[in-house]
Amino acid sequence: MSATAELVMKDHRLAPGQVPPTVIEMLETAEKAALVARIERLLVERDAVLVAHYYTSPELQELAEATGGYVSDSLDMARFGTECKSSTLVVAGVRFMGETAKILNPEKRVLMPDLHAECSLDLGCPADEFAAFCDQHPDRTVVVYANTSAAVKARSDWVVTSGIALDLVRHLAERGEKLIWAPDRHLGAYVQRETGVDMLLWSAACVVHDAFKADGLRKLRAHHPDAKVLVHPESPLDVIALADVVGSTTALVEAARKLPAKKFIVATDNGLFHKMQQVAPDKIFLEAPIAGKGATCVSCAHCPWMAMNRLRTLARVLETGANEIVIDEAVRERAAQPIRRLLEFAKRRKQVVLGNNDA
Ligand code: 13P
Ligand code: SF4
Repeated sequence: MSATAELVMKDHRLAPGQVPPTVIEMLETAEKAALVARIERLLVERDAVLVAHYYTSPELQELAEATGGYVSDSLDMARFGTECKSSTLVVAGVRFMGETAKILNPEKRVLMPDLHAECSLDLGCPADEFAAFCDQHPDRTVVVYANTSAAVKARSDWVVTSGIALDLVRHLAERGEKLIWAPDRHLGAYVQRETGVDMLLWSAACVVHDAFKADGLRKLRAHHPDAKVLVHPESPLDVIALADVVGSTTALVEAARKLPAKKFIVATDNGLFHKMQQVAPDKIFLEAPIAGKGATCVSCAHCPWMAMNRLRTLARVLETGANEIVIDEAVRERAAQPIRRLLEFAKRRKQVVLGNNDA
Protein backbone atom coordinates (compact mmCIF):
# COMPACT_ATOMS: atom_id res chain seq x y z
CA MET A 1 0.00 0.00 0.00
CA SER A 2 1.42 3.43 -0.92
CA ALA A 3 2.35 5.95 1.76
CA THR A 4 -0.29 8.35 0.44
CA ALA A 5 -3.04 5.79 0.54
CA GLU A 6 -6.25 6.84 -1.18
CA LEU A 7 -9.71 5.48 -0.39
CA VAL A 8 -9.15 1.77 -0.32
CA MET A 9 -12.48 0.15 0.01
CA LYS A 10 -16.12 0.11 -0.92
CA ASP A 11 -18.13 3.28 -0.55
CA HIS A 12 -19.67 3.34 2.94
CA ARG A 13 -21.81 6.43 2.38
CA LEU A 14 -25.54 6.01 2.98
CA ALA A 15 -27.93 5.99 0.01
CA PRO A 16 -30.47 8.86 0.12
CA GLY A 17 -33.24 6.35 0.94
CA GLN A 18 -31.40 5.40 4.14
CA VAL A 19 -31.54 8.95 5.48
CA PRO A 20 -34.70 9.95 7.36
CA PRO A 21 -36.33 13.31 6.55
CA THR A 22 -35.34 16.25 8.74
CA VAL A 23 -38.45 17.05 10.79
CA ILE A 24 -38.33 20.21 12.90
CA GLU A 25 -40.48 20.31 16.04
CA MET A 26 -43.18 22.98 15.69
CA LEU A 27 -44.85 24.13 18.92
CA GLU A 28 -47.38 26.80 19.83
CA THR A 29 -45.99 29.39 22.24
CA ALA A 30 -48.13 28.19 25.15
CA GLU A 31 -47.20 24.54 24.67
CA LYS A 32 -43.52 25.43 24.41
CA ALA A 33 -43.63 27.47 27.63
CA ALA A 34 -45.41 24.64 29.45
CA LEU A 35 -42.87 22.07 28.22
CA VAL A 36 -39.93 24.26 29.22
CA ALA A 37 -41.38 24.74 32.72
CA ARG A 38 -42.01 20.99 33.04
CA ILE A 39 -38.48 20.12 31.90
CA GLU A 40 -36.92 22.67 34.27
CA ARG A 41 -38.82 21.14 37.18
CA LEU A 42 -37.96 17.57 36.16
CA LEU A 43 -34.26 18.32 35.74
CA VAL A 44 -34.15 19.40 39.40
CA GLU A 45 -36.32 16.53 40.66
CA ARG A 46 -34.27 13.92 38.80
CA ASP A 47 -30.87 15.45 39.66
CA ALA A 48 -30.27 15.69 35.91
CA VAL A 49 -28.27 18.01 33.69
CA LEU A 50 -28.86 18.70 30.00
CA VAL A 51 -25.82 18.52 27.71
CA ALA A 52 -26.59 19.61 24.16
CA HIS A 53 -24.71 19.76 20.87
CA TYR A 54 -24.58 23.01 18.88
CA TYR A 55 -26.68 21.41 16.11
CA THR A 56 -29.75 20.91 18.31
CA SER A 57 -32.64 23.38 18.25
CA PRO A 58 -32.27 26.90 19.70
CA GLU A 59 -34.93 25.99 22.31
CA LEU A 60 -32.88 23.03 23.58
CA GLN A 61 -29.65 24.98 23.61
CA GLU A 62 -31.24 27.83 25.56
CA LEU A 63 -32.79 25.39 28.02
CA ALA A 64 -29.44 23.67 28.60
CA GLU A 65 -27.72 26.96 29.29
CA ALA A 66 -30.53 28.31 31.49
CA THR A 67 -30.54 25.21 33.72
CA GLY A 68 -26.81 24.84 34.47
CA GLY A 69 -26.22 22.43 31.59
CA TYR A 70 -23.92 22.85 28.65
CA VAL A 71 -23.85 23.40 24.88
CA SER A 72 -20.74 22.58 22.91
CA ASP A 73 -18.93 20.34 20.42
CA SER A 74 -18.62 16.59 20.86
CA LEU A 75 -15.24 16.64 22.65
CA ASP A 76 -16.28 19.30 25.09
CA MET A 77 -19.63 17.61 25.78
CA ALA A 78 -17.70 14.50 26.84
CA ARG A 79 -15.44 16.53 29.09
CA PHE A 80 -18.38 18.35 30.71
CA GLY A 81 -20.12 15.04 31.38
CA THR A 82 -17.15 13.79 33.38
CA GLU A 83 -16.83 17.00 35.38
CA CYS A 84 -20.43 17.70 36.37
CA LYS A 85 -21.85 16.34 39.63
CA SER A 86 -25.40 15.37 38.58
CA SER A 87 -26.30 11.69 38.76
CA THR A 88 -28.19 11.80 35.43
CA LEU A 89 -26.88 13.20 32.16
CA VAL A 90 -29.43 13.95 29.46
CA VAL A 91 -27.55 14.08 26.20
CA ALA A 92 -29.28 16.01 23.41
CA GLY A 93 -27.28 15.09 20.36
CA VAL A 94 -26.77 11.85 18.49
CA ARG A 95 -26.29 8.36 19.82
CA PHE A 96 -22.50 8.27 19.82
CA MET A 97 -22.52 11.32 22.10
CA GLY A 98 -24.81 9.56 24.58
CA GLU A 99 -22.67 6.42 24.39
CA THR A 100 -19.49 8.42 24.97
CA ALA A 101 -21.07 9.98 28.06
CA LYS A 102 -21.98 6.52 29.38
CA ILE A 103 -18.58 5.04 28.56
CA LEU A 104 -16.88 7.74 30.60
CA ASN A 105 -19.46 7.82 33.39
CA PRO A 106 -20.65 4.27 34.05
CA GLU A 107 -21.98 5.25 37.47
CA LYS A 108 -24.27 7.89 35.96
CA ARG A 109 -27.59 7.34 34.28
CA VAL A 110 -27.44 8.64 30.71
CA LEU A 111 -30.70 9.39 28.91
CA MET A 112 -31.33 10.63 25.39
CA PRO A 113 -34.49 12.27 24.02
CA ASP A 114 -34.50 9.81 21.08
CA LEU A 115 -32.40 6.66 20.75
CA HIS A 116 -33.00 6.66 16.98
CA ALA A 117 -30.79 9.74 16.68
CA GLU A 118 -28.01 8.06 14.74
CA CYS A 119 -25.20 9.50 12.62
CA SER A 120 -24.37 8.56 9.03
CA LEU A 121 -20.70 8.13 9.97
CA ASP A 122 -21.55 5.72 12.76
CA LEU A 123 -24.02 3.83 10.50
CA GLY A 124 -21.39 3.70 7.75
CA CYS A 125 -18.91 1.85 9.95
CA PRO A 126 -20.39 -1.48 11.14
CA ALA A 127 -18.29 -2.91 13.97
CA ASP A 128 -17.81 -6.43 12.49
CA GLU A 129 -16.70 -5.18 9.09
CA PHE A 130 -14.41 -2.63 10.69
CA ALA A 131 -12.82 -5.19 13.03
CA ALA A 132 -12.14 -7.49 10.07
CA PHE A 133 -10.48 -4.61 8.21
CA CYS A 134 -8.29 -3.79 11.24
CA ASP A 135 -7.35 -7.45 11.57
CA GLN A 136 -5.96 -7.33 8.02
CA HIS A 137 -3.57 -4.52 9.03
CA PRO A 138 -2.20 -5.46 12.43
CA ASP A 139 0.85 -3.20 11.98
CA ARG A 140 -1.30 -0.04 11.96
CA THR A 141 -2.50 2.13 14.85
CA VAL A 142 -6.29 2.42 14.73
CA VAL A 143 -7.62 5.97 15.01
CA VAL A 144 -11.39 6.45 14.95
CA TYR A 145 -13.46 9.59 14.93
CA ALA A 146 -15.77 10.13 17.91
CA ASN A 147 -18.73 9.63 15.52
CA THR A 148 -18.64 5.84 15.93
CA SER A 149 -20.36 3.16 18.00
CA ALA A 150 -19.02 1.94 21.33
CA ALA A 151 -18.02 -1.33 19.65
CA VAL A 152 -15.92 0.46 17.00
CA LYS A 153 -14.27 2.59 19.67
CA ALA A 154 -13.52 -0.60 21.58
CA ARG A 155 -11.57 -1.87 18.55
CA SER A 156 -9.50 1.35 18.34
CA ASP A 157 -6.28 2.62 19.86
CA TRP A 158 -7.28 6.28 19.77
CA VAL A 159 -10.53 8.21 19.49
CA VAL A 160 -10.34 11.71 17.99
CA THR A 161 -12.65 14.61 17.29
CA SER A 162 -12.26 17.14 14.49
CA GLY A 163 -10.95 19.63 17.06
CA ILE A 164 -7.82 17.61 17.74
CA ALA A 165 -7.35 15.29 14.76
CA LEU A 166 -4.40 17.12 13.13
CA ASP A 167 -2.50 17.44 16.41
CA LEU A 168 -2.96 13.81 17.32
CA VAL A 169 -2.09 12.38 13.91
CA ARG A 170 1.10 14.48 13.81
CA HIS A 171 1.97 13.22 17.27
CA LEU A 172 1.49 9.58 16.23
CA ALA A 173 3.52 10.11 13.06
CA GLU A 174 6.40 11.53 15.14
CA ARG A 175 6.38 8.17 16.93
CA GLY A 176 6.73 6.47 13.54
CA GLU A 177 3.22 5.01 13.48
CA LYS A 178 1.19 4.20 10.37
CA LEU A 179 -2.56 4.57 10.75
CA ILE A 180 -5.98 3.23 9.96
CA TRP A 181 -8.47 6.12 9.95
CA ALA A 182 -12.24 5.71 10.20
CA PRO A 183 -14.94 6.44 9.38
CA ASP A 184 -15.05 9.90 7.71
CA ARG A 185 -13.45 9.87 4.24
CA HIS A 186 -13.34 13.68 3.96
CA LEU A 187 -11.90 14.42 7.38
CA GLY A 188 -9.44 11.56 6.82
CA ALA A 189 -8.39 12.91 3.41
CA TYR A 190 -7.98 16.39 4.90
CA VAL A 191 -5.85 15.15 7.80
CA GLN A 192 -3.83 12.98 5.43
CA ARG A 193 -3.20 15.92 3.08
CA GLU A 194 -2.24 18.31 5.89
CA THR A 195 0.07 15.91 7.69
CA GLY A 196 1.39 13.63 4.91
CA VAL A 197 1.00 10.69 7.30
CA ASP A 198 0.50 7.14 5.99
CA MET A 199 -3.24 6.52 6.60
CA LEU A 200 -5.62 3.88 5.31
CA LEU A 201 -8.99 5.60 5.05
CA TRP A 202 -12.40 4.12 5.73
CA SER A 203 -15.00 5.51 3.37
CA ALA A 204 -18.12 6.79 5.14
CA ALA A 205 -19.35 10.41 5.10
CA CYS A 206 -21.61 12.81 6.94
CA VAL A 207 -24.86 13.32 5.00
CA VAL A 208 -24.89 17.00 5.88
CA HIS A 209 -21.31 17.95 5.02
CA ASP A 210 -20.93 15.61 2.05
CA ALA A 211 -23.56 17.71 0.25
CA PHE A 212 -21.64 21.01 0.22
CA LYS A 213 -20.57 21.98 -3.30
CA ALA A 214 -17.38 23.81 -4.27
CA ASP A 215 -18.84 25.28 -7.50
CA GLY A 216 -21.77 26.87 -5.70
CA LEU A 217 -19.51 28.09 -2.91
CA ARG A 218 -17.17 29.74 -5.41
CA LYS A 219 -20.13 31.56 -7.01
CA LEU A 220 -21.58 32.65 -3.66
CA ARG A 221 -18.17 33.93 -2.57
CA ALA A 222 -17.88 35.93 -5.79
CA HIS A 223 -21.19 37.63 -4.86
CA HIS A 224 -19.91 38.35 -1.35
CA PRO A 225 -16.20 39.11 -1.70
CA ASP A 226 -16.18 40.64 1.81
CA ALA A 227 -17.31 37.34 3.41
CA LYS A 228 -15.01 34.87 5.17
CA VAL A 229 -15.63 31.19 4.47
CA LEU A 230 -15.89 28.84 7.48
CA VAL A 231 -15.83 25.08 6.79
CA HIS A 232 -16.19 22.00 8.99
CA PRO A 233 -13.64 19.37 7.88
CA GLU A 234 -16.30 16.70 7.30
CA SER A 235 -16.87 18.58 4.01
CA PRO A 236 -15.29 17.46 0.69
CA LEU A 237 -11.68 18.51 0.07
CA ASP A 238 -12.57 20.91 -2.77
CA VAL A 239 -14.91 22.75 -0.37
CA ILE A 240 -12.25 22.79 2.35
CA ALA A 241 -9.84 24.26 -0.21
CA LEU A 242 -12.02 27.40 -0.39
CA ALA A 243 -12.07 27.96 3.38
CA ASP A 244 -10.57 30.84 5.31
CA VAL A 245 -11.02 28.77 8.47
CA VAL A 246 -11.34 24.96 8.73
CA GLY A 247 -12.31 23.65 12.15
CA SER A 248 -14.55 21.89 14.62
CA THR A 249 -17.88 23.45 15.52
CA THR A 250 -16.26 25.28 18.45
CA ALA A 251 -13.44 26.56 16.23
CA LEU A 252 -15.99 27.89 13.72
CA VAL A 253 -17.98 29.67 16.45
CA GLU A 254 -14.75 31.21 17.73
CA ALA A 255 -13.82 32.34 14.21
CA ALA A 256 -17.25 33.96 13.82
CA ARG A 257 -16.71 35.81 17.10
CA LYS A 258 -13.09 36.84 16.65
CA LEU A 259 -12.55 37.59 12.96
CA PRO A 260 -13.08 41.24 12.07
CA ALA A 261 -15.26 40.35 9.01
CA LYS A 262 -18.96 41.27 9.15
CA LYS A 263 -20.14 38.48 6.86
CA PHE A 264 -19.51 34.72 6.80
CA ILE A 265 -20.38 31.86 4.48
CA VAL A 266 -20.66 28.74 6.61
CA ALA A 267 -20.32 25.13 5.44
CA THR A 268 -21.67 23.13 8.36
CA ASP A 269 -25.04 22.13 9.84
CA ASN A 270 -27.20 25.26 10.05
CA GLY A 271 -27.98 24.45 13.70
CA LEU A 272 -24.65 26.16 14.44
CA PHE A 273 -26.03 29.51 13.26
CA HIS A 274 -27.88 29.96 16.56
CA LYS A 275 -24.66 29.98 18.60
CA MET A 276 -22.85 32.05 15.96
CA GLN A 277 -25.59 34.66 16.02
CA GLN A 278 -25.48 34.66 19.83
CA VAL A 279 -21.73 35.32 20.01
CA ALA A 280 -21.73 37.75 17.05
CA PRO A 281 -25.20 39.37 16.92
CA ASP A 282 -24.15 42.10 14.45
CA LYS A 283 -22.69 39.73 11.87
CA ILE A 284 -24.33 38.07 8.87
CA PHE A 285 -24.18 34.29 8.32
CA LEU A 286 -24.97 32.73 4.95
CA GLU A 287 -25.43 29.00 4.30
CA ALA A 288 -22.91 27.47 1.92
CA PRO A 289 -24.63 25.92 -1.15
CA ILE A 290 -25.56 22.23 -1.07
CA ALA A 291 -26.52 19.59 -3.61
CA GLY A 292 -30.24 19.85 -4.38
CA LYS A 293 -32.86 22.29 -3.18
CA GLY A 294 -36.18 21.92 -1.36
CA ALA A 295 -37.50 18.39 -1.80
CA THR A 296 -34.39 17.28 -3.70
CA CYS A 297 -31.76 17.86 -1.01
CA VAL A 298 -31.01 14.91 1.29
CA SER A 299 -30.38 16.59 4.64
CA CYS A 300 -30.86 20.21 3.50
CA ALA A 301 -27.93 21.35 5.70
CA HIS A 302 -29.51 20.13 8.90
CA CYS A 303 -28.82 16.74 10.41
CA PRO A 304 -32.05 14.68 10.48
CA TRP A 305 -30.88 12.82 13.57
CA MET A 306 -30.01 15.97 15.53
CA ALA A 307 -33.53 17.21 14.72
CA MET A 308 -34.96 14.19 16.60
CA ASN A 309 -34.05 15.94 19.86
CA ARG A 310 -37.36 17.58 20.74
CA LEU A 311 -38.82 19.26 23.83
CA ARG A 312 -41.76 16.83 23.88
CA THR A 313 -39.53 13.74 23.85
CA LEU A 314 -37.12 15.28 26.35
CA ALA A 315 -39.97 15.93 28.81
CA ARG A 316 -41.28 12.38 28.39
CA VAL A 317 -37.86 10.83 28.90
CA LEU A 318 -37.25 12.82 32.09
CA GLU A 319 -40.70 11.83 33.32
CA THR A 320 -40.38 8.10 32.64
CA GLY A 321 -36.62 7.42 32.67
CA ALA A 322 -36.96 5.85 29.21
CA ASN A 323 -34.23 5.88 26.56
CA GLU A 324 -31.40 5.03 28.88
CA ILE A 325 -28.07 4.24 27.24
CA VAL A 326 -26.90 0.73 28.16
CA ILE A 327 -23.55 -0.66 27.01
CA ASP A 328 -22.09 -4.10 27.61
CA GLU A 329 -19.52 -3.69 30.40
CA ALA A 330 -16.63 -5.37 28.57
CA VAL A 331 -17.19 -3.17 25.52
CA ARG A 332 -17.52 -0.09 27.71
CA GLU A 333 -14.28 -0.74 29.55
CA ARG A 334 -12.39 -1.33 26.31
CA ALA A 335 -13.93 1.74 24.62
CA ALA A 336 -13.10 3.94 27.62
CA GLN A 337 -9.35 3.50 27.09
CA PRO A 338 -8.98 5.30 23.73
CA ILE A 339 -11.40 8.04 24.82
CA ARG A 340 -9.47 8.65 28.03
CA ARG A 341 -6.29 8.69 25.99
CA LEU A 342 -7.86 11.44 23.85
CA LEU A 343 -8.93 13.50 26.88
CA GLU A 344 -5.46 13.18 28.43
CA PHE A 345 -3.84 14.16 25.14
CA ALA A 346 -6.20 17.15 24.80
CA LYS A 347 -5.35 18.23 28.35
CA ARG A 348 -1.60 17.97 27.74
CA ARG A 349 -1.90 19.89 24.46
CA LYS A 350 -3.74 22.71 26.16
CA GLN A 351 -0.98 22.93 28.73
CA VAL A 352 1.66 22.99 26.00
CA VAL A 353 -0.23 25.71 24.11
CA LEU A 354 -0.66 27.75 27.27
CA GLY A 355 3.01 27.19 28.12
CA ASN A 356 4.05 28.48 24.70
CA ASN A 357 1.83 31.52 24.99
CA ASP A 358 3.17 32.34 28.39
CA ALA A 359 6.77 32.08 27.28
P1 13P B 1 -17.86 18.50 16.41
O1 13P B 1 -16.97 17.55 17.10
O2 13P B 1 -17.12 19.57 15.65
O3 13P B 1 -18.89 19.04 17.34
O4 13P B 1 -18.63 17.70 15.26
C1 13P B 1 -19.52 16.67 15.56
C2 13P B 1 -20.38 16.39 14.42
O5 13P B 1 -21.14 15.46 14.43
C3 13P B 1 -20.24 17.26 13.25
O6 13P B 1 -21.09 16.89 12.26
FE1 SF4 C 1 -23.31 12.65 12.03
FE2 SF4 C 1 -23.25 14.50 10.16
FE3 SF4 C 1 -25.27 14.42 11.87
FE4 SF4 C 1 -22.80 15.20 12.66
S1 SF4 C 1 -24.14 16.24 11.21
S2 SF4 C 1 -24.18 13.82 13.71
S3 SF4 C 1 -21.54 13.85 11.42
S4 SF4 C 1 -24.75 12.85 10.36
